[in-house]
Amino acid sequence: MSNPVVLIAEELSPATVDALGPDFEIRHCNGADRAELLSAITDVDAILIRSATKVDAEAVAAASKLKVVARAGVGLDNVDVSAATKAGVMVVNAPTSNIVTAAELACGLLISVARNIAPANAALKQGEWKRNKYTGVELAEKTLGVVGLGRIGALVAQRMSAFGMKIVAYDPYIQPARAAQMGVKILSLDELLQVSDFITVHLPKTPETVGLIGEEALRKVKPHVRIVNAARGGIVDEEALFAALKEGRIGGAGLDVYAKEPCTDSPLFQFDNVVATPHLGASTDEAQEKAGISVARSVRLALAGELVPDA
Ligand code: NAD
Ligand code: MLT
Repeated sequence: MSNPVVLIAEELSPATVDALGPDFEIRHCNGADRAELLSAITDVDAILIRSATKVDAEAVAAASKLKVVARAGVGLDNVDVSAATKAGVMVVNAPTSNIVTAAELACGLLISVARNIAPANAALKQGEWKRNKYTGVELAEKTLGVVGLGRIGALVAQRMSAFGMKIVAYDPYIQPARAAQMGVKILSLDELLQVSDFITVHLPKTPETVGLIGEEALRKVKPHVRIVNAARGGIVDEEALFAALKEGRIGGAGLDVYAKEPCTDSPLFQFDNVVATPHLGASTDEAQEKAGISVARSVRLALAGELVPDA
């Protein structure tokens, strides 16, 4: 009998293949290339992806042997979980693999936006020594509004409180008493928008969260507020953010994610006070190794017909 086929559709840590072991036929494809994906997925038992591969209803329908979709990371917004479940395909992810890594990037963007690190670095390398132009603001005593106090939001709150920031959060699914244990005060979204000097977004992308920080929300913020989105593109509406930056209604933004990715040419990139990274939230050696090993283990168990425990 031939070995089950595992399709790796994005670049994953080499630890992934090691953790799968010798019992599988490993194939590779570029999952971001739709035609390539739809052709490669037809006869595989499992597919391993990150965020660039869309395993939607069409891809599930094209995959007659598919038993597992394994997402080497947190967000499942690129997988049609309901279509997969209806087709009897298990969907697994690695929900804690990159949370520290993602939280660290969000903190890095926040500090960079506060202190103009990215534009000052770019200017200096162009031969410009402009100390006054890149004067920033302190974090100590400022209020950080965390939108989504889940795993990553809580890690960001913990880390930024070490900088002396006061932390408030909006998350209707978190008990205020639980937040209080973390030293975080739960507010309504409107209250958070009104009191925050910095806002950091850590929500999943769902129909409720898309555009949550949009035109209306951006009319309620403090004029100097700096906003970080290292969760998913579109939760902070890009057109509304552009207008707020253009009109000087906010102080800056740190962005890791975009409504459409890859994103190499956004109107937002023209602003000196926008620091932008190309969806690097999970991109450390440590997180990629953890994610790869975690999903490889889940795939092994699932294809052996065994129970896949919650990670
Ligand atoms: P999590 O599930 O632990 O936390 C999400 C929090 O959002 C939860 O506390 C939940 O109650 C809250 N929430 C959900 N819907 C909400 C709503 N409508 N309004 C307010 N709060 C709401 O998830 P996490 O591990 O903290 O990750 C958050 C997101 O970050 C992921 O879904 C993923 O999309 C993104 N992410 C991005 C990167 C990256 O590379 N940039 C890396 C990892 C995760
Ligand atoms: C995630 O949700 O885990 C991130 O977007 C990281 C990734 O794409 O690998």
